[in-house]
Amino acid sequence: MSELQKADFSYIGTDADMGQLHRVLSETLRQSGHPLPGPEHRRLLNLACGRADETGVLADVFGKDAGRLDIFGADLRAPEIEEARTRWKSDPDSGIHTQFESGDGLQILDNLDDDQQFDVAFLRHQNFWNGNDLWQGMFDRSLHRLTGDGMLVITSYFDLEHRQACAALKRLGAIQVANFRNPKSRLISAKHQKSVDRHIAVFRKPTTD
Ligand SMILES: C[S@@+](CC[C@H](N)C(=O)[O-])C[C@H]1O[C@@H](n2cnc3c(N)ncnc32)[C@H](O)[C@@H]1O
Repeated sequence: MSELQKADFSYIGTDADMGQLHRVLSETLRQSGHPLPGPEHRRLLNLACGRADETGVLADVFGKDAGRLDIFGADLRAPEIEEARTRWKSDPDSGIHTQFESGDGLQILDNLDDDQQFDVAFLRHQNFWNGNDLWQGMFDRSLHRLTGDGMLVITSYFDLEHRQACAALKRLGAIQVANFRNPKSRLISAKHQKSVDRHIAVFRKPTTD
């Protein structure tokens, strides 16, 4: 995180959420029992990243033992991506490099070079309820872009949506290696039982892929 330049942000009230995410992500990865892939040059896809609030957390968690970490964030919303670009500029001399692209995540992944792969695919607050086909496509393409020992991590706002997303990933052949209900997640809506990073799950690439 210290290697990223953190500019002012449109919404600054995220520090506590980021602290929580850092803790639950680190703990869930530890519980998965799998080492982080690609320590020399780790490449991370942050799909549907919005403003990419979590970039500093990802840099800390996935960058600390890596020689170099590339973070590639993509989202449909151009203003949010512009904000992410402005906020998370990487120092060219540092070991952490950021790149953000706006557009449809399916197309962005389809248009990458055939040999472009990621060690980690991260989808924070995946939106499975808001279009099963779209999110199944996002999961499928992310899994195909993973290296053999790569991992896919999702977080979810809702219980049912989390179960549905995990079931979809398993149907695609992904192997679930950790699942954690964050008891300290910040409640956004009591009525809808929605809270920040309420669930987190880690998957490995299917062995047959
Ligand atoms: C619930 S928000 C999560 C945003 C961010 N990851 C976070 O946790 O704050 C879901 C995100 O999916 C993005 N999204 C929806 N459809 C998309 C698509 N076809 N391609 C890329 N991103 C998409 C939205 O723009 C939105 O930023």
